[in-house]
Amino acid sequence: MLPPRLFGRGGKTEDRMRKVFITGGTGALGQALVKKFVQFGWETAFSFRQNRQAAESLTSECGARAFVADLTEPESVARMAQRLEEEFGVPDALINNAGKSVVLPFALLEPDDWDEAMGVNLKTTFMATHALIRGMIRQKGGAIVNFGSIAGERVLGVPVPYATAKSAIRGFTLSLAREVSRYSIRVNAVVPGLLEAGVSSLVPPAEKEEFLKYCLLGRPGRCEEVADLVEFLASDRASFINAQLIHINGGF
Ligand SMILES: NC(=O)c1ccc[n+]([C@@H]2O[C@H](COP(=O)([O-])OP(=O)(O)OC[C@H]3O[C@@H](n4cnc5c(N)ncnc54)[C@H](OP(=O)(O)O)[C@@H]3O)[C@@H](O)[C@H]2O)c1
Repeated sequence: MLPPRLFGRGGKTEDRMRKVFITGGTGALGQALVKKFVQFGWETAFSFRQNRQAAESLTSECGARAFVADLTEPESVARMAQRLEEEFGVPDALINNAGKSVVLPFALLEPDDWDEAMGVNLKTTFMATHALIRGMIRQKGGAIVNFGSIAGERVLGVPVPYATAKSAIRGFTLSLAREVSRYSIRVNAVVPGLLEAGVSSLVPPAEKEEFLKYCLLGRPGRCEEVADLVEFLASDRASFINAQLIHINGGF
């Protein structure tokens, strides 16, 4: 493990470990993110919804702390936020990674499928941010990294509700950055292309081939590659990067 780095906020430098909270830490990208932040010396906490086994293995493997919550449910989020404040404190960085795809042709969608996709991909981002931002405002600093997707940016064979929710992350990121920059809180989003694992496992082989045909590097990305970018964006090394959507897709 790398030693903790000095963390500067608002011009001051503090000799303490920075804290990060990652939503969806039990997923494919979430696990890579948790390991990356721990490796770079961050005190790391993450949320999960139901995969307790993955949460426990991650905790015992790298010492990150796990907090259970359904981030679409206000009461569940309030309970989690209270525990987080008592047991972990205010994070310096929030990574809004939780998300999932609902794979159905548009004509077969029911309103509940739509609500589920908006809930898991958009409401979770709003709820986690809303629960934690007051602490960041009080401490006058922080970094938020949201998760978009190439699905919300290009003409691809992807489920409409997923593409819609991911596209909305853009507006959320830009307008929130405008509102909280005065507190030295930076808000950015990463926009990954097709990755080797996670939600992409639901993408049909023909659609994967289509993606790879147009991807300059001709391969899916690795979760670790995305985690590297996210850790950078959350850190003070990215102190002048704000209100940006950073694409990571091998060239598409
Ligand atoms: N993988 C890709 O190719 C790809 C490409 C572009 C963008 N992305 C984005 O990257 C992010 C991570 O994706 P992934 O591939 O790692 O997905 P994943 O493996 O399916 O993991 C999803 C994570 O979200 C959590 N989650 C789901 N519903 C939740 C809810 N209601 N409340 C709280 N947590 C919830 C899950 O927790 P439990 O497991 O405990 O239920 C899990 O930790 C997503 O935002 C996705 O859209 C992924």
